[in-house]
Amino acid sequence: MGRIDRRDALRNMAAGAAAAGGLGIAADALRAQEWEDPCNLGWNGREFVLPDLPYAYDALEPHYDAETVTLHHDKHHAGYVAGANAALTALAAIRGGDRPASEIKHWERELAFHGSGHVLHTLFWLGMTPGGSDPTADLLRAINASFGSVEACRQQLTAATVAVEASGWGILGYFPMTDTLMILQAEKHQDLAVQGVIPLMVIDVWEHAYYLKYKNARADFVAAWWNIANWEYASQRYASVRNA
Ligand SMILES: [Fe+2]
Repeated sequence: MGRIDRRDALRNMAAGAAAAGGLGIAADALRAQEWEDPCNLGWNGREFVLPDLPYAYDALEPHYDAETVTLHHDKHHAGYVAGANAALTALAAIRGGDRPASEIKHWERELAFHGSGHVLHTLFWLGMTPGGSDPTADLLRAINASFGSVEACRQQLTAATVAVEASGWGILGYFPMTDTLMILQAEKHQDLAVQGVIPLMVIDVWEHAYYLKYKNARADFVAAWWNIANWEYASQRYASVRNA
């Protein structure tokens, strides 16, 4: 993304955060977020931030249309960032005695919902690239060891994602305990989680992710998504989290 495109994206993100009832996240904070660190999924050391897209809004056409990408990133993802920061602020206020302890359940649920949404959406954007890409050697070895082949992995992730009940995600993750890859379904963001699994690649199948173009044909969206899957990023992230 060029400098002007990046500046436009930042302006759009700030507007999106404001429209989503955000916390007035400063452009400096947004600018501080870069994609070079695969372990950083949108945290500037002080608060969650909405990262700019690593490509233009229309770069994933025709598989993923610019209108959906724009709304999805600038409005929906921005809303999760705002919600997660609001939860952190409220929980700090509870700890400080400025809010009643009776609110703890509400704000912990808010943190889980919005925090998970922010992390998974950040991975979702990074998990796509124009033209797609292939896994590099380490991830390829892990895929073959865990699933038998890339095609078997792809088929299982496709089937799991299409079969997500209502809203949720298909997730390819790394499980440090077994040093293997694992495919999971996440209903909503916070259910059916296996604690300790580190997501490497995720597919959003909330209706807002695909409905403008694909309507109720979720399977068609997931099939098209594979044309823009960024295995190269997943490879980098796998190496990074495994070495961490
Ligand atoms: Fe989404």
